[in-house]
Amino acid sequence: MSEKFLLPSRGRAPELELVKKLPKNTDALLVPVFQGEDGPELAASGLLGDDAEIVAVLRQLVAVGATGAHGEIVRVPGTSGAAADSVIAVGLGDSDELDEESLRRAAGSAARALAGLDTVATTLGAFGLAAAVEGIALGAYSYTGIRSEDTPASKQPVRKVAFVGDPKTDKDIFVAAQIAAESVLLARDLVNTPSSHLYPESYAAIISAEAKPHGVDVEVLDEKALEKQGFGGLLAVGRGSARPPRLVRLTWAPRKARKSVGLVGKGITFDTGGISLKPASKMEDMISDMGGSAAMVATVLAAARLNLPVKVTATLPLAENMPSGSATRPGDVITHYGGRTSEIINTDAEGRVVLADALARASEDKPEYLLEVATLTGAQMVALGAKTSGVMGSDDFRDRVAETGRRVGESAWAMPLLEEQDEELKSPVADIRNSPNSRNGGMLYAALYLSRFVDEGIEWAHVDIAGPSFNNGSVSGYTPKRATGVPVRTFIEVLREIAEEKN
Ligand code: BES
Ligand code: MN
Ligand code: ZN
Repeated sequence: MSEKFLLPSRGRAPELELVKKLPKNTDALLVPVFQGEDGPELAASGLLGDDAEIVAVLRQLVAVGATGAHGEIVRVPGTSGAAADSVIAVGLGDSDELDEESLRRAAGSAARALAGLDTVATTLGAFGLAAAVEGIALGAYSYTGIRSEDTPASKQPVRKVAFVGDPKTDKDIFVAAQIAAESVLLARDLVNTPSSHLYPESYAAIISAEAKPHGVDVEVLDEKALEKQGFGGLLAVGRGSARPPRLVRLTWAPRKARKSVGLVGKGITFDTGGISLKPASKMEDMISDMGGSAAMVATVLAAARLNLPVKVTATLPLAENMPSGSATRPGDVITHYGGRTSEIINTDAEGRVVLADALARASEDKPEYLLEVATLTGAQMVALGAKTSGVMGSDDFRDRVAETGRRVGESAWAMPLLEEQDEELKSPVADIRNSPNSRNGGMLYAALYLSRFVDEGIEWAHVDIAGPSFNNGSVSGYTPKRATGVPVRTFIEVLREIAEEKN
């Protein structure tokens, strides 16, 4: 595939380094501060010099009102021994309450306060190197899009952050955290890219270019191949667009793999709703409707870069959902990959239609686990809010994925498949119908629809990330506006755990 398709722009993030000693020409020292009963308490203050200098920094912090409250950022001049122009104190709150996620969030807030600086050194890793690295990298990320002029230096992320640690013992943790963070950033870059530049053909080419250097095998089916192999769901959704659909398959197959995992992610590069057209308000956010596929691209690449001993095969249906003279109509009956038929009631319920084909295809590989993710329903946000993913599927795997999400700081909650919705799934003219009459339990209905395409005996989890993948609210912790990269870290962790399973 050619060079002509590249991401038009990528977010910026700092270079990260693990160092034993303070690098020369450090602009600022980023130091953690706890909120003690009698005021702020400097922690891991080794960078600041001798006791007298530590006391001097603490005095300055108190003088300007620092408390050490969680997420508080206070900047004071460096003391003579501190070897940097300024000291930036990041509040970690009550030391008894510090956990990985609160460290990650504080590091994220700190990272944003470092914008415009050149080199910063930090001891934040003393309380959890992986969380500190992830928080800094994810918090500093800045996507400024496609502009005629470059962003001023003062608004660009810090150029380099050096984590003080022991390069001998901490190296593996540091590198793994960096890979996890970079994977999240790749997903964010893909999701932040507008649909003018990211559409099925260009997206497939960009995925190929990203995957190949990491030893991941890539197969792209174009519209002719899709026709030949019977991907009727993907073709039906893509039919309204001048830019035809693609199916991308990515395979990481290390020789020492014991388990195999199928990944499926929704890749609607823009969702107008089709003939069941969406209202204009906020329709521009539908550039993010490929967030599930982006998360899976990032997950496969992470598995390869981490050299995880597990076979991973991603099946990614990419299409643009547009209204036109050639678009699928409400009332049409389509034939999915594998032969099941579906009555299209609402062309805006297109995600389940493309995912059905992909799940049927992924099931043919007979993976032990099938992990699937999509910006699937507005109902996800009605049920769980904008930040908590809904997880459905086989009982055990569903619960496990939701728990893993919460453990890594990507909020997720297990939700049921409802027997009572079996009835609503029935169609007078096809095996099933893509949309119910009732608005009740819309997220669960979509999951039930998908369940019909997963083979018996496969442990399946479906994650609805309609809200969590794209932040329309304010920046907080390490979560920026727009693409969040959720739930890439959850999936990396799930793969890590599966790789360690004995049988
Ligand atoms: N991509 C949307 C879901 C979505 C909405 C994601 C808002 C992110 C933010 C999906 O394709 C969709 O349109 N779903 C419909 C389904 C309905 C027609 C049954 C919905 O949720 O309204
Ligand atoms: Mn839709
Ligand atoms: Zn959609």
